[in-house]
Amino acid sequence: MELIARACACTLCLACIATLAAAASSSPSPAVKYVSERPGWQRAWTHEAMEPLYNASLRPDLDVFRGRIRLLSGLGVANQLRRYHMNSSRVKRGTAVVVVRGGRVTGLTFEDFNPAFRIRLDSVVSELQRHQDAGHIKLEDSVFILNTRDVPVCSLGYCLVPMFSPVKEVRPGGKAYNEDLLVPLMAYPSEQLVEVEPADKIPRGGIAIHADEPAGSEGSCRWFVRKFARPGGAAAEWIDVLEAGELLKQEAAAAAAGGGKGGEGGGGVEARRAMEVAAGERPVSGMAAYPAPAAALARYRVALSCDSQAANPGLAGLLATNSLVLKGRSNWAEYYYRLLQDGQHYIEFDSAFATEVVKEAMLKSQAAKYAAIVERAQRFAYTYLSQRSRALYFEKAISEYNKLFGEGYMQATVADLPTDRPLAMSDILALPMYPSTWRQGLA
Ligand SMILES: *[C@@H]1O[C@H](CO)[C@@H](O)[C@H](O)[C@H]1NC(C)=O
Ligand SMILES: *[C@@H]1O[C@H](CO)[C@@H](O)[C@H](O)[C@H]1NC(C)=O
Repeated sequence: MELIARACACTLCLACIATLAAAASSSPSPAVKYVSERPGWQRAWTHEAMEPLYNASLRPDLDVFRGRIRLLSGLGVANQLRRYHMNSSRVKRGTAVVVVRGGRVTGLTFEDFNPAFRIRLDSVVSELQRHQDAGHIKLEDSVFILNTRDVPVCSLGYCLVPMFSPVKEVRPGGKAYNEDLLVPLMAYPSEQLVEVEPADKIPRGGIAIHADEPAGSEGSCRWFVRKFARPGGAAAEWIDVLEAGELLKQEAAAAAAGGGKGGEGGGGVEARRAMEVAAGERPVSGMAAYPAPAAALARYRVALSCDSQAANPGLAGLLATNSLVLKGRSNWAEYYYRLLQDGQHYIEFDSAFATEVVKEAMLKSQAAKYAAIVERAQRFAYTYLSQRSRALYFEKAISEYNKLFGEGYMQATVADLPTDRPLAMSDILALPMYPSTWRQGLA
C-alpha cells in the first residue's frame, strides 16, 4: 500500500518536473555573470589561510586516530583493505588506493571497480597532479585508501587506518557518527561566483533534482519537495523543481557551441566533458549524481539544496551564487560543512516548512538580513572552495596522515614499492608491517 502511494507520488512528480522544466526553458532567462576575481576578497591559497578549515574539520577527523592506541603500519592499510573492503563487494567496488611517489600521483583499484565511481578517483588524481605540477602544492610520498562512494566506511572504532572519504554524518554539536577522514571532492569544480542582477531574479525558490534519483524516505527534504512542489501541490506557488539532467545537457551543449554562456568555468574541457557524460547517465546507488550547473538556480531569489542519499555536492556551487541558499536539515557533511553556519551562510529548514521559509525569504523586511547571508556565503565559497584550496586541503591531509605513521615511515614504505612495472592493488595488499629500511634499522 505504502509502496503504491510512493510510486504514485513519484510518477506525479516526474510529470511535474518535465512540465516545469519546459516552462522554465520557455521563459526569458536573465543574464548570468561569472566572476573569477573579486577585488578585496582573498582566496585561501596558503595553509595559513586554510587554517580555520583545518581546525574545523581535518584536526577533529585526525584526532580520532591520534587518540587510538593502534599501530598505524603499512600492514594496517593492507589489513584494512582485506578486512573491510574485500569481503563486501559494494565497498570493494568503490575502493581505490592513491599512491604518491616523487610527485607522481597514481590511482589503483580492484579489477571490479565500478566505472561509475571512476570520476571521483580520476578527478583526485588529475587535480592533485595538476596543482603539484603547477607548484601550488608539494605532495609527500604516501599510500592512502580513497573511498569513492558517498557512503562512509568507518563506523565507530572500525577503521585501522584513516579512510579518505567525501562524506560522513556529523551531529549538530559537531560529533561525527563515522570516523572517515573527510577530503574534498575534486570532480565538480566551482571556481567562479555566479551572479544574476537581484532585480532580474525570479521571485521564487528553485531546486534542481535528477528525475530518477531516489527521493529519500518519507518526510525527507527531497521527498517533500517532490511531493509538494509538483503542479497543484501545496508548495508549487513558491518553488520550481528543475530537472538536473536536462540542465546539464543544456550547459554542455552551450559550452560545445562555443561557450557563449561562460560555462561553469574553471573546470575547463574535462569538467565540460564530465558534465556532458553526466547528463546522459543514470544516477548510481551509493553516489550523489553530478550536480546541476549553479547558473540555473542563480536565476532564482532562493536556491534550495536537499541532501538525498548523501550530501548534495551541488551546495558549493549554490553558495557561490548571489541567491539565498536554503539548506534542508541533514547530518550529511562534506569536508567544509563544519565551518559553515546556519543563519550566517545559509538558512536551514525542516522539510515540512520549506514553503514558509521560501515565502519569508521574499519579504522586503528581510532583504538586508538575507543580502548579508548571501555575501558571507559567496565570500566563503570564494575563499575556501576553489580547486586550488581543495588541493591544499589534500596536501595537508596527506602530510598529517603520514605523521600518524611516524616520521619517515610512509616515505620508506613507498620506496619499497616496485618501480620496474606499473603498480597494482596486489602490491598494496602485500605491504609489510615495516618498510625494509626500517627492518634493517631495527635489526
Ligand atoms: C587553530 O587551532 C590552533 C590549535 O588549537 C590554534 O592555535 C589556532 O589559533 C587556530 N587557528 C584558527 C585560525 O582558528
Ligand atoms: C571479512 O573477512 C575477514 C577475513 O576473512 C574477517 O576477519 C572479517 O571479519 C570480515 N569482515 C566482515 C565485515 O565481514
